[in-house]
Formats: sequence, C-alpha cells, structure tokens
Amino acid sequence: MATDAGNPITRFPAGFLWGVSTSAHQIEGAAKEREASVWDVFTAEPGRVKDGSTAAVACDHYHRYREDVALLAGLGVDAYRFSVSWPRVNSPGGLDFYDRLVDELCAAGVRPVPTLFHWDLPASLDWLERDTAARFADHVSVVAERLGDRVTKWITLNEPAEHTLLGHALGAHAPGRQLLFDALPVAHHQLLAHGLAVRALRAAGAGDIGIANSHGPTWPASKDPADLEAAAFYDVLLNRLFADPVILGAYPEGLGELMPGDVQADLKVIGEPVDWYGINYYAPTRVGAPQGTEIEFGGLTLPAELPFSVREIEDRPVTDFGWPVVPEGLTELLTGFRDRYGDRLPPIVITENGCSYEGIDDQDRIAYLDGHVRALHAALEAGVDVRGYFVWSLLDNFEWAEGYARRFGLVHVDFADPTLKRTPKASYHWFRDVLRAQR
Ligand code: FCB
Repeated sequence: MATDAGNPITRFPAGFLWGVSTSAHQIEGAAKEREASVWDVFTAEPGRVKDGSTAAVACDHYHRYREDVALLAGLGVDAYRFSVSWPRVNSPGGLDFYDRLVDELCAAGVRPVPTLFHWDLPASLDWLERDTAARFADHVSVVAERLGDRVTKWITLNEPAEHTLLGHALGAHAPGRQLLFDALPVAHHQLLAHGLAVRALRAAGAGDIGIANSHGPTWPASKDPADLEAAAFYDVLLNRLFADPVILGAYPEGLGELMPGDVQADLKVIGEPVDWYGINYYAPTRVGAPQGTEIEFGGLTLPAELPFSVREIEDRPVTDFGWPVVPEGLTELLTGFRDRYGDRLPPIVITENGCSYEGIDDQDRIAYLDGHVRALHAALEAGVDVRGYFVWSLLDNFEWAEGYARRFGLVHVDFADPTLKRTPKASYHWFRDVLRAQR
C-alpha cells in the first residue's frame, strides 16, 4: 500500500485526545464472577461463533488489568476507552473492579473513558422491551455515582446500529434474532436509553458526554437509479438512523412512523444535547440494488430479502477480515457529516479505528493506522472539529462471532499460553513514537 509512512505526521491541535479502546466482554473474562449476558447465552449455542470459542476467559483482563494499564502507560496514550459490563455491575463486587481500574488508570496518568453499554446486555433483559431503556438509566446512575469523582468523560452506548442490525435483524450477533425490519424497536429503545442516560449522567453532575456510533461512506455500485436508490436507503440505515435523532432530535423521513411508543415525546429525550459525537470508522461500503440472492460479506450472510446488496470494493488492499483499506474514506465521512449537520454537529471524536492482521511485526497495521491518522488530519484541515482519536484495540481479543481468529490489537495476546502472555507489536511501538512526536 502506498503511504506517507516515514514522513512525520503533522501536529494535531494542543489538547487533542489520543487513546485506545477495548470492551468488557471482549477482554475481561471472569465470566463466573458476574451474571450472564446475552453474549454468554449466544456463544453457548453451537455454531454461533466461528471457532467455537467463548469469552469466558478472553484476555483475563479482570485479573490482569494492572499489567494492561502498565501497557497503556508505556504507550503514552492520554485516554483509555473501556466498557463497563452491566451484568458485572449487577453482580456482587462488580463495581469494585471498575473502581480499582479507574484508580489504576488515574495513578498511571491515563484518563478513563467508560462506555456504559457495549453489547453485553444482562441475559434477563431485552431491547425489544421499552423498559430496558429505563433500566439502563438506573445502571448509568449507579456507575456515575461510584466513578463520577474520577471519570470526566463518558460514552453512553457503543454502535447501536450494529447491535440492532447484527444482533436483532440478521442474527449474526447476540441475541441472535433474525427480525429484519421488525428489529426497528430495538433501535428506538437504545436511542431512548441513550437520551435517558445523558439525563442520568447530568443529574449525577457528570459532563463531557458522547455516544459511539459506527459510520462509513456509502458508495453506490453504479449510477443506475436502482443502485442509487438502494445505496441511499443503506446510507440512511447506517449514517442517519442513529445520528439524526441524537444530533437533530428527529428521525430521517419515514422512519419515525415505524417506531413504537410516543415517538415525538421520546425524541425530546433522545435529542438531549451531547458534548461530542463519537464515530467508529473502519471502511466505506459499496452498495447496489438487491440481487435476489444471499450474499456472503465480511463474515456475514446477508439475506436475499434486503432492499440492497453489498458489493466488493475492488482495487483496494483488504485486512485479514476482508475489509477494504480506504483511509480517505475517513476524510470523506467527516466532511460529509459537517456538510450534512452544519452548526448542529457537535465536536467529533474518533472512538474506534483499526484493522485485523496476524503477526507481531505488523507493518500492515502500521500502514493502515498511519494512513488513517493522516486522513483525519486532512479532515481537520478541511475545517471539521475533531477532538480525539482512539485505536481499536489495545489487545487482541474476542472478536464476537469471529472468536479469536481476528486480531485487532496493538498488543499480541497468546491465547494458547496459560499466562495469556502480552507482547507489544511493531504497531504499539509505532503508535508510541507518533504520540511522543505530538507532545
Ligand atoms: C466494532 C465494535 C468493536 C470491535 C470492532 C472491530 O464494530 O464496536 O467491539 O468488534 O468493531
């Protein structure tokens, strides 16, 4: 891949927040020391996870967090985005773990940035139920009460779009439902949960609140009207269904009518102002008219009934996951958001960006990250207000339905070794040097 790697990366503004991200279910392990989540139920069902694995042990971060915080300190990041497991908080002693983790981070000079929900819903709850939104607000209040004296930046939800689409519409993720468009209430209830969480955090005196949504440019397969229409529809699902209600307090045209409950009243809650908007960016998607057949794409099977089909992006290198590497897609995405939302767009933080590649001398990952950091700088130069960038991920971890087969870490984890040995990869050292040069 052609890169500018080797030339120094231009300086970002003072105060720009550099970090790495993880999530509880993917790294913590210690599954017996908390109640079950929908992911424990899902992974226990044969055939759900490609390598048949579960996250019962994962990186055992629950017991090895001190070692992991030392890795963060060695990397020199400003901030660490992790998630607080709702099932663990519900379990005796669970909140104590996050208390210890936050103390350890603060002592190491790394700012804790918790996500309050990253897909591991307590197994007793269901996003099809409206009440789950209110239960989430209770969970948020409990966490804010305990950690709010040290945590100064918060994320409500991670990727409600993926949790709706993969978990409830297509069945590739927990809880494994295949409701297609009947999954829309799951979107609405998560959005409501987000708005109630913003209120709960503010009531607890917390500030600097955002959400982490996944977004990427949608590239139509051709100029054929059928392809353009399908791509526009897909773009609404990925880039507007969750962003419009949060940023504008309104659903894209035609979608509000499909949502349950008193939607107008709920939108007032959902549109509660956030301090910043988090974007997880991996790649653009090429989309065309439906082709009347199932499509295998990026580890997913997309049913023939969908009103769009996903196509290959050709002439691009791909990661081990098969995702195309398109750094300038990040610039396009960010300038597109600025053009769409104008003055209503809050400051942006890139809450995830990364790639899966094998190996410890991971030059491919360095090229990917280097290209994306430069593409991010191009967006700043184009006038987009971006305040931070978090690499996914600190550690190789349990990559959902892919199990341990996809390695996104800056740090290698030997899952065959009883001590789960951590080895910083070449990309860890590269990122540390990028951060040093920014100081
Ligand atoms: C995102 C998820 C994250 C991780 C990366 C690769 O969609 O938020 O947990 O799985 O993809």
